[in-house]
Amino acid sequence: MSSHKPSKSPLLILKKGESIESTRSRKAFTSLLSSHDGTEIIHHQLIKGGRWGITPEDDQTNILESIYLLSGKMTMHTTEKEYLLEPGDFIAGQPVSEYLVFTAIEDSEFLYVCSGPMYHHYSGATKKMELLAVEIEKKDGYTAEHCKRIKDLSMLVGEKMQLNSESLHKLYFGALLHDIGKTKVPESILLKPDKLTNDEWKIMKEHTRFGAEILRKTNIPHLILAADVVEQHHERYDGSGYPLSLKNDQINIESAIIGLVDSFDAITSDRVYKKGRSNKSALTEIKQLRGIKYHPDVVDIFLSILEDY
Ligand SMILES: [Fe+2]
Repeated sequence: MSSHKPSKSPLLILKKGESIESTRSRKAFTSLLSSHDGTEIIHHQLIKGGRWGITPEDDQTNILESIYLLSGKMTMHTTEKEYLLEPGDFIAGQPVSEYLVFTAIEDSEFLYVCSGPMYHHYSGATKKMELLAVEIEKKDGYTAEHCKRIKDLSMLVGEKMQLNSESLHKLYFGALLHDIGKTKVPESILLKPDKLTNDEWKIMKEHTRFGAEILRKTNIPHLILAADVVEQHHERYDGSGYPLSLKNDQINIESAIIGLVDSFDAITSDRVYKKGRSNKSALTEIKQLRGIKYHPDVVDIFLSILEDY
């Protein structure tokens, strides 16, 4: 008589700090601990002020997503309200049916378990977009920090305006990727040291539509969601912006925020061809243009935040 023992796969043991795969950014560290048959276990570390989010899945999918906070403190914005999460708190959804935005109010660590292969699908594609965005800002004469500053300041404004979690998602990716469309603008125009001709300027302005197209083609829900925001980030409150000369509340509030923050950063940043002006001088200009180029509520919140920033 023969006995049969089921074959076993070897036990995977990762010592602290080890992972199968890791990604690191300035405010987040992500380690894929285990992955099998579509299920992933991921260890996240968020530095104070860092943010992370979950996008709702199509109801047809039955993916389980859960979060277990190991240490630190985080806020969780849902569509309706904001919660404080502390160590031991557990969140789960199957599927998660609304946008969730997590902000670390202290350095925090959590485990994220997902029954679908989100890590490679979403993180990989989003990271690629972010790198592209940073590359294009460098070509445009900015440092790599420009995209992150726009994102951080925009999120502070959005949170203070009490935007809901869906809107904060749009704002986060819209801010980070606002100029991604410049990847489709010829370098002869993008890098031209002299003043652009009218025809060249027309092509340059198309970066808003190009950016929206790029995001819509990704098939990734949180990037598609940000497409409209990117398309409108040069619209201005009085209708003097582009590409559609939208006015007042026709403009997405997220685009209005990014438009103001981007202008402030452009005025105050040193570029290859010009020295940045002082914060004080930029703020004087922004106050003068309150309710003209910039949404008055956004200006008021922005000014109040900048005092502490
Ligand atoms: Fe732009």
